[in-house]
Amino acid sequence: MTRSSMTDRDMTGLANQLGLDGRVVIVTGAAGGLGRAFAEGFAAAGAKVVAADIAPVGVEDTVARIHAKSGVALGLEVDVTKATSVEALAARTVAAFGAIDVLVNNAAIYAGIARAPFTEIDEADWDRIMAVNVKGTWLASKIIAPRMTAPGGAIITLSSGRVKKGRVSPPSGRGDIRSAGGAGSHSTRAARVASRSSSSRR
Ligand SMILES: NC(=O)c1ccc[n+]([C@@H]2O[C@H](COP(=O)([O-])OP(=O)(O)OC[C@H]3O[C@@H](n4cnc5c(N)ncnc54)[C@H](O)[C@@H]3O)[C@@H](O)[C@H]2O)c1
Repeated sequence: MTRSSMTDRDMTGLANQLGLDGRVVIVTGAAGGLGRAFAEGFAAAGAKVVAADIAPVGVEDTVARIHAKSGVALGLEVDVTKATSVEALAARTVAAFGAIDVLVNNAAIYAGIARAPFTEIDEADWDRIMAVNVKGTWLASKIIAPRMTAPGGAIITLSSGRVKKGRVSPPSGRGDIRSAGGAGSHSTRAARVASRSSSSRR
């Protein structure tokens, strides 16, 4: 079943199963695209959503759409490539909602990037994608994980099914984004292992 084919009753049933009611969820890159859909989905499931993005106007629209359906949401501006900006996001979320339960690492350079054969990927594009998709994912996980309500916080990182296929799609693909997706996924796995071993030391 797709998100768009789900009725409000389906969403309520899903919310009950997932236990998201009242949970605090940060979605990065929530000004549009998939991030907005995730923010709206979590809010419909009863979560308190922080819609965060570098693009403030889109964030306002996401929050307005959630409020129009009586959901709970707060819009915050963040640049996931800057530690101080992510620190402020975490602090303002805790100040507003008292906790952080889930982080969705969705912010990325994706839709705006031109498709190019692997050998013609632009170096500046590569650097931008690595800064947001890889470093941004790592920074957000590193800074927000320790502030999660223990136990049971969750980090969800967006990647691509193509990462595991190792296929370069000729004549034009997004090899740079796939590389970033693989690194981002690995970074989140590392965060999970680190968090397990630190809780076993407590
Ligand atoms: N759309 C797809 O078909 C597809 C396929 C595979 C994976 N993905 C992954 O899903 C996620 C969302 O994809 P999408 O198509 O909605 O992407 P998108 O490019 O439409 O949206 C990404 C969002 O991230 C925000 N962003 C960019 N830089 C930022 C920064 N420094 N700090 C904070 N926010 C920033 C943008 O403003 C934008 O709102 C991405 O992680 C992408 O890699 C998407």
